[in-house]
Amino acid sequence: MPVSSATDPALPGHVAIIMDGNGRWAQARGLERSEGHREGLEATRRAVRFYAEHGIQSLTVFAFSSENWGRPRSEVEALFELFVTAIEGELPELVERGIRLRFIGDRATFPPTLQTRMCEAEEATAGNEGMCLVVALGYGGRWDILQAARKWVAKGGAEADGDAESTFAAELSTTGLADVDLLIRTGGEQRISNFLLWQAAYAEILFIETYWPDVGEKDFERSLAWYAQRQRRFGRVSAGAYSATEVPGA
Ligand code: IPE
Ligand code: IPE
Ligand code: MG
Repeated sequence: MPVSSATDPALPGHVAIIMDGNGRWAQARGLERSEGHREGLEATRRAVRFYAEHGIQSLTVFAFSSENWGRPRSEVEALFELFVTAIEGELPELVERGIRLRFIGDRATFPPTLQTRMCEAEEATAGNEGMCLVVALGYGGRWDILQAARKWVAKGGAEADGDAESTFAAELSTTGLADVDLLIRTGGEQRISNFLLWQAAYAEILFIETYWPDVGEKDFERSLAWYAQRQRRFGRVSAGAYSATEVPGA
């Protein structure tokens, strides 16, 4: 039975995935890279089902980075077409599962059809109360921090009283979501590639060798088991590391 992460501290509240390895998956099979992206969508569907069924509150998936604009036009166009088809195809299941869909990233230069589908899907799922599925499209951590900084400064954040970290974080595209607890990157690379730079400050990071299209339920199960074993310290020391007379922070 799925358990709610609100009641189980061993479960991450917010899982984020750098879904990497689609192109290499395709190339290894003599296929076009776009075939890898198509197959990658199946893995994304498996991830959404798995984490939603396991009571995860938010799942953020990296689908297209600010830097991915630098890929050949044919690949970028194929990706945009896939995003449109994916939104149209997946929307009924998201609605049925009560999943709220949200996009983060700079969408201003996306094709109008894609922008329209994104808005429609966000509106159609806005009232849902299940897992929040955040799709990072045209997203970069530096873009996010910069756009937040502009808004924060314009609102007088630098001069205002109160907790600057909180008021700043409220301007990030992820406003309202908890920080990332578990960050997974598939495909063998061990880097962040400009993903959630601020939000993943204390994330537990799991690197998986498997290319994204081959990732499935067993890997997701392992990710939760691995997370449950982590001892999160947030810069402090573990309980029990001090004697009773030596209280940390006192
Ligand atoms: C990740 O897979 C998906 C996107 C960036 C859109 P890649 O396309 O980066 O696949 P590899 O890393 O080249 O194998
Ligand atoms: C990160 O993968 C972006 C996405 C998964 C959307 P990349 O393939 O773009 O990252 P690099 O180039 O290997 O760092
Ligand atoms: Mg890649």
